[in-house]
Amino acid sequence: MPALVLLGAQWGDEGKGKATDLLGGSVDYVVRYQGGNNAGHTVVVGDQKYALHLLPSGILSPGCTPVIGNGVVVDPAVLLSELSGLNERGVDTSKLLVSGNAHLITPYHTTVDKVTERFLGKRKIGTTGRGIGPTYADKINRVGIRVQDLYDESILTQKVEAALDFKNQILAKLYNRRAIDPAKIVDEMLAYADQIKPFVADTTLILNNAIDEGKVVLFEGGQGTLLDVDHGTYPFVTSSNPTAGGACTGAGVGPTKINRVIGILKAYTTRVGAGPFPTELFDKDGEALRTIGGERGVTTGRDRRCGWFDAVIARYATRVNGLTDFFLTKLDVLTGWEQIPVCVAYEIDGKRVEELPYSQSDFHHAKPVYEMLPGWTEDISKAKTFSELPKNAQAYVKALEEMSGAPISAIGVGPGRDETIEINSFLS
Ligand code: GDP
Ligand code: IMO
Ligand code: MG
Repeated sequence: MPALVLLGAQWGDEGKGKATDLLGGSVDYVVRYQGGNNAGHTVVVGDQKYALHLLPSGILSPGCTPVIGNGVVVDPAVLLSELSGLNERGVDTSKLLVSGNAHLITPYHTTVDKVTERFLGKRKIGTTGRGIGPTYADKINRVGIRVQDLYDESILTQKVEAALDFKNQILAKLYNRRAIDPAKIVDEMLAYADQIKPFVADTTLILNNAIDEGKVVLFEGGQGTLLDVDHGTYPFVTSSNPTAGGACTGAGVGPTKINRVIGILKAYTTRVGAGPFPTELFDKDGEALRTIGGERGVTTGRDRRCGWFDAVIARYATRVNGLTDFFLTKLDVLTGWEQIPVCVAYEIDGKRVEELPYSQSDFHHAKPVYEMLPGWTEDISKAKTFSELPKNAQAYVKALEEMSGAPISAIGVGPGRDETIEINSFLS
């Protein structure tokens, strides 16, 4: 089982960090392939809690080589501070590899992210303000700065000047902000160069060789399927491809090399930032999910919007990612409800719709059609096997599996590494 993709099946924060960390002990490489430090992946090991933003969650497993692929956008200041934070806690980060082709987030990208959101006012996306969108925009516009540019001062200077020529016009004339001095940016970037150099590598070559040698490579998605710039709820999305295909472009590995695609699926739904969310709750149930589930953003500290499970979205995630398995997380959070509503279809302009509509206007009008499933009251956090779950919890999982179109191969019953029920091994 050499190559697996692990990704978010909803709007992010499904528990990808925990799932990746769980597998980290059995894999050789864990690779981030898109996004940047907009991600917030929580890993709980014993009584220690780690919040990872840019680094792959495999960094906490000693035998595993963490890789930042070419498709990731790297804020060098964040990279170095995350590394030193882990080093202070005794984590060895020396094996890290960073693609020389990954694009760099500079201070002007974060500035543009924040002023653009302010300018959009009511129409804002609710970004994390980390410069992600503007950095990907520069990449596509071919005025981006890459990690390898840190090692050629003349090229770096030319590229920063070219990027700022245009941006300074916008900042000064449209947003009424002070222009940014290219020389200052170049100096700041060069100051990071030596510290990052030991990690810079041809990651595509290394990963392809590793797969050919039968090593196990895990691609860890950031964000989630519905935040994908192509397949998500555009424009309320992130600016990269968290979906499975993104692992190929974002790491330089062909689709024929990938054997398994695991969708991380929360037993209910959450979303951070703006955009449509059919099963969103505005009542005491929503508040209860938020409180019991600890639904507060790891990156920005914003409260997450909460709602019931949406099987239309899960089916869509199966389709656009070619999912082979689901890892259902946070089942324990649903303990205590007498009945649990599950969205099985939408009603759009009076018609029942079983599949996610491609049209933004239709999705904005989608009303959830709920089926009620019986709840359970027993504490499930100690369950180690499926049969140890209460009958109604088993039936809930089975119903979700049937509606979602791929087998549920693991179930999370708590945040810890060991609070997991494994049904089918991901690595067999
Ligand atoms: P990610 O962005 O997908 O890695 O997810 P986050 O870390 O942002 O949010 C998931 C939260 O749920 C974290 O606080 C995890 O520690 C926690 N978590 C993960 N799996 C479970 C689970 O099965 N049960 C409970 N109660 N918490 C979980
Ligand atoms: P993880 O990996 C949840 C959301 C933001 C905003 C939109 C665009 O922890 O699941 P961006 O800063 O990316 O341009 O913001 O995407 N968003 C996330 N929501 N989890 C994340 O990451 C997210 N990363 C970005 O809230 O709505
Ligand atoms: Mg998160």
